[in-house]
Amino acid sequence: MEATRWKKLIDELDHNHRLSADGYRSLLEQRFTVQDADLKEEMDRYLFEHARNRQQQNFGRKIYVRGLIEFTNYCKNNCYYCGIRRDNRRVERYRLTEEQILECCAEGYRLGYRTFVLQGGEDSYFTDDRICDIIKAVKLRYPDCALTLSIGEHSRDSYRRWFAAGADRYLLRHETADEQHYRYLHPDTLSLQNRKACLWALKEIGYQVGAGFMVGSPGQTMDHLVEDLLFLSELQPHMIGIGPFITHQDTPFAKEKNGSVEQTLFLLGILRLMFPSGLLPATTALGTLAPDGRERGILAGANVIMPNLSPTAVRKQYSLYDNKICTGEESAQCTQCIKGRLRSIGYEMTVDRGDHPDIQ
Ligand code: 5AD
Ligand code: FES
Repeated sequence: MEATRWKKLIDELDHNHRLSADGYRSLLEQRFTVQDADLKEEMDRYLFEHARNRQQQNFGRKIYVRGLIEFTNYCKNNCYYCGIRRDNRRVERYRLTEEQILECCAEGYRLGYRTFVLQGGEDSYFTDDRICDIIKAVKLRYPDCALTLSIGEHSRDSYRRWFAAGADRYLLRHETADEQHYRYLHPDTLSLQNRKACLWALKEIGYQVGAGFMVGSPGQTMDHLVEDLLFLSELQPHMIGIGPFITHQDTPFAKEKNGSVEQTLFLLGILRLMFPSGLLPATTALGTLAPDGRERGILAGANVIMPNLSPTAVRKQYSLYDNKICTGEESAQCTQCIKGRLRSIGYEMTVDRGDHPDIQ
């Protein structure tokens, strides 16, 4: 490939917000197989500059924050990569009460958060009614805040009820858009088809929707990543969360290799050009694999950060992967930490709810 081909692809992506499957493949292949360190750096610099231009055009130097409340680590699923999978007997299970969840929101509100993300495993204890009660309680106390759910696959009817109760947004990563690869990462009880159907249903109901995938998960190929990009192009989610796969010692993938920070950053840059006004978090997994991972994510085009508001006492138990950061800190400490990190790269935290620009 001549030296300017990748530049043309980045220019085309910046201009059209999309490439053909071959275009994505050739851009990723060139970047992920290149040996020459100078060329690597040149590609990153070129992509990230364009990505930051789009990011700053749409959002200035403001970064949205979402307060993450991990309210249950019970899960009936058995995904091979995930530390809170059902068969992991070594993780101590917990559930927060409604009062505890509200206390996390209260602390978050004091610290300036105007979006709360209620995330958990697929825990049957939290019936539709219980989730509705929690949504209503949070929205009653914090009517000016956006409420996001991230609790996995449910029926269209459940999604409808929760939306009617006041939930605004829903995060459900598709994890991989390739059928075979999906089956490689999940037991037979789960299917990509259902995952995608959930995402389309959520969109149709009116949620602001987040999808996303892991980078470098076991068995992932360049073609799988191309499929991820094409699927996202079709779905047009409001948010896209990506992070490197990280092993967890008590899962079937314990001996696999971690995903790469560099690949995640390059994909963030591509996603920013595909979705100039999209919401792209610099994820905790990125910050776990590199001490400055989240800052580098922002400099590659990300514009959201999701600090942990869970009670410190349970944070270690929400162990999706090994060495997860922020498990010893208090919410106030994480908030200060994030503010400092953003300032160090010339960005600032905004208290705006940060709805997708298309929503009003
Ligand atoms: N490494 C990285 N990310 C993971 N997730 C779950 N397990 C891991 C892991 N081992 C991600 C999934 C899920 C999100 C909540 O966390 O993408 O959707
Ligand atoms: Fe939690 Fe830095 S964000 S300690």
